[in-house]
Amino acid sequence: MIILAIESSCDETGLALLEVKQSGKKNPTFKVLANVLNSQIDIHQVTHGVVPEVAARRHVEMFPHLVNELIKKSKIKLQNIDLIAVTNGPGLIGSLLVGIEAAKVLAATLNKPLIGINHLKAHLHANFFNLKSNQIEDIKYPALALLISGGHTELIKLESMNKFSVIGDTLDDAVGESFDKVARLLKLPYPGGPSIAKLALTGNDQGFTLPMPLKTQAGFNFSYSGLKTAVRTLIVDNKTNTEQSRADLAASFQRTAVEHVLDKTTKAIRAHHAKTLIVAGGVSANQYLRKRLTELYAADVDVRIPEFFLCTDNALMIAMSAAIEYLKNPKKVLKSDWRKINVDPGMNI
Ligand code: KG4
Ligand code: ZN
Repeated sequence: MIILAIESSCDETGLALLEVKQSGKKNPTFKVLANVLNSQIDIHQVTHGVVPEVAARRHVEMFPHLVNELIKKSKIKLQNIDLIAVTNGPGLIGSLLVGIEAAKVLAATLNKPLIGINHLKAHLHANFFNLKSNQIEDIKYPALALLISGGHTELIKLESMNKFSVIGDTLDDAVGESFDKVARLLKLPYPGGPSIAKLALTGNDQGFTLPMPLKTQAGFNFSYSGLKTAVRTLIVDNKTNTEQSRADLAASFQRTAVEHVLDKTTKAIRAHHAKTLIVAGGVSANQYLRKRLTELYAADVDVRIPEFFLCTDNALMIAMSAAIEYLKNPKKVLKSDWRKINVDPGMNI
C-alpha cells in the first residue's frame, strides 16, 4: 500500500510517499519512501509574515519540482501509488486550493482514490508512528493531545486513535502566534518561534516578571494576548534598550508562555486521568518546552513529542494520517472519489 501525500495549507509545500504493510494481528509497519519539502521562510521574512497570495503562488511554482524530486528520491513510478491524500483544511484558502487541485489532477489522470486530510489531526497522528521500529503503535488511553502551532493552542482528549474532543482552546492568540508577534516587537526575523528561542539562550528567564495568563481561572483554556501586550509595554517604556535586556525579555517571555502551557496541561492531565500526552504542532519544536515537558511528566505519563522534522508542517504527517484512515476502513478509503474533495479553510479537529 503506497500513499502519496500533499501538504500546502500555509507556507510549506510538501510531498511524501509512505508505504504501509499489515499482516495478521501484528501492528502495521511502515516505510518512509520519500519526504520532500519547500519552506517559504525566505519570501515571508521580507514581510514579517505570510502574505496569502504570495504563499499560494510559491506553492504553484514549487509543485512540479517537488514531484520530480519525490520520484527521483523514491524511485517509485506514480502509477504504482495506491492512494493520494491531500490537506483540505484548516489553512489559507489559496494555499490549500493549490494542493487540492494538484491532487485532483494526479488522482484523475492516474485513476487513483483521493482523500482529504485534516491538518490538525495529522499533527497528532504523526505521534503514532515509531520511526525507530517502523511500527504504527497504539497508545494508552485516555490520552491528551496538546496542539500548539501558529494557529492553534488546544488540549484535546483522545479516547482512541480516532475519537477526539476539544477540552481547552485559546481565547485569543495562539501560542505560536504570540511568539511571532513578540518576535516582531523585538525586531527579530520571521518565523518568531525559533528567533525568540535563539535570543532566549543568552537571556535570564527571571529578568522580567510577566503576567501568567488565566492562573486562577478554572478550566483548560489559554490566553496569549495579555502576555504580548505586557511585552509591548516594556518595549515602549524603553526597558529593552540593551542587547542583554532584549535577551532577558525573550527568555522571560518564553518561560511564561511555556509555563502557561504546562499549567493548563498539568491540570488537564490530572482531571482527565490521562495516561499519555501527545504533543504536536510547530511550537513543539521549542527546545525549552521539550525539556520542561519531559522533566515534568516523565515519571507517570508517557510523553510523546515528534522528532523536529515532524513538528512543523510537512507532508509525511499527512501520509501518516491517511494511513490511519486507511487502516480504519480500507474499502471505504480505496473508493474515495477525487470529485468529492472540497476545501474547508476553517476545519476543526
Ligand atoms: O505547525 P506549524 O508549522 O504551522 C501551523 O500550522 O501554524 O507552526 C508554526 C508556528 C509558528 O508560529 C512558529 O513561530 C512556531 O510554530 N515555532 C516555534 C518554534 N518553531 C516554530 N515556536 C517556538 N519555538 C520554536 N522553536
Ligand atoms: Zn501545522
